[in-house]
Amino acid sequence: MSLLDAHLGLLDSLGQRGRLRRLAPIAGADFASNDYLGLAGSALVRDLTVEALARGIPPGAGAARLLRGSHDSFAMLESEAASHFGTGAALYFGSGYTANLAIFSALPQARDLVLHDALIHASSRDGMRLGAAEARAFGHNDAGAAEAALIGWRKAGGKGHVWIATESLFSMDGDRAPLADLMAIADRHDAFLIVDEAHATGIWGPGGRGLAADIAGRENVISLHTCGKALGVQGALVSAAAPLVDTLVNRARGFIYSTAPSPLLAEVLRGVLAHLASDPMRRERLLARVAQAGELARSFGLQPTGSQIQPVLLPGDANVLRAAEALQARGFDIRAIRAPTVPKGEERLRLSLTLNPEDAAISAAFAALKEVLA
Ligand SMILES: Cc1ncc(COP(=O)(O)O)c(C=O)c1O
Repeated sequence: MSLLDAHLGLLDSLGQRGRLRRLAPIAGADFASNDYLGLAGSALVRDLTVEALARGIPPGAGAARLLRGSHDSFAMLESEAASHFGTGAALYFGSGYTANLAIFSALPQARDLVLHDALIHASSRDGMRLGAAEARAFGHNDAGAAEAALIGWRKAGGKGHVWIATESLFSMDGDRAPLADLMAIADRHDAFLIVDEAHATGIWGPGGRGLAADIAGRENVISLHTCGKALGVQGALVSAAAPLVDTLVNRARGFIYSTAPSPLLAEVLRGVLAHLASDPMRRERLLARVAQAGELARSFGLQPTGSQIQPVLLPGDANVLRAAEALQARGFDIRAIRAPTVPKGEERLRLSLTLNPEDAAISAAFAALKEVLA
């Protein structure tokens, strides 16, 4: 008997069910990252980092924000982000995951209801689990179902606030939420709308400010802009009305009881936001890739999503794993996505378009896909 037996048993059981995950080195042309604009390893981000270091910006914050960790870099980033995204205020977190934990655990209160899209990200679900409000899912992108659930809850005596939550561009399906409909429902019923822009920020909406950019300034809208995907750095900015941001500062345990993120990265983000506001070139190049991939997808019978995320449904763990391995062996880093990340029976290859591969790699990847799926 060893103290580790239970864990060894768990790992063994995962292995027997083909579900054991291992960390692997990065290899192959990038069709798997969320570094959509190719910024993470860019000269721009490198130069911004070197320049911030030269100005004496520290890599470490040294303390939580409410103690001695509230460096000027955060205040400047947050004020610039609030004006960039058109909201009253913004708050910087170390990751989108912790930001979603904060939003869902600290904003909705005990008598409230969170109505969320059935396919919302795990980080939002985990936040709901930590929070005190009741949470109910509505069918994916079914605004009518969301409104019916809201009306039903009120009829049954629900008295608190309602928080409708969705992603603007879904991470595993690449499709868009019906934001105008959800906003109208929120307005009709005095509800809040929480929009996770993780896969839209930097790319979609006016100036890449997100698909909810036109509604972001309203007092009942909260948007989450992650900074580790198209923005190429790390962290997340929650943009919302000032009283909601102040509530996060006072109530979000992951904000209060955690060392602040790196001030150096906050400085780099300031530079990235300024760059994206003034130079649309990367966004335009990505949109051209999306159009090219859409044509290629259509040519072999796939419905293009019109976004940088293209799923190829291949139900069954064995099928999808085999296809992903064959593509990887041909030099394309295309990953299999399985339950519980997506519903069982909806296993898929997730093709993520970024500016990282060579131009020729896009058509080559689709050619390889055709071969592998033949
Ligand atoms: C929709 C969505 N929200 C939030 C997150 C979490 O963001 P981060 O990677 O910055 O923790 C992710 C990342 O996978 C995501 O896809």
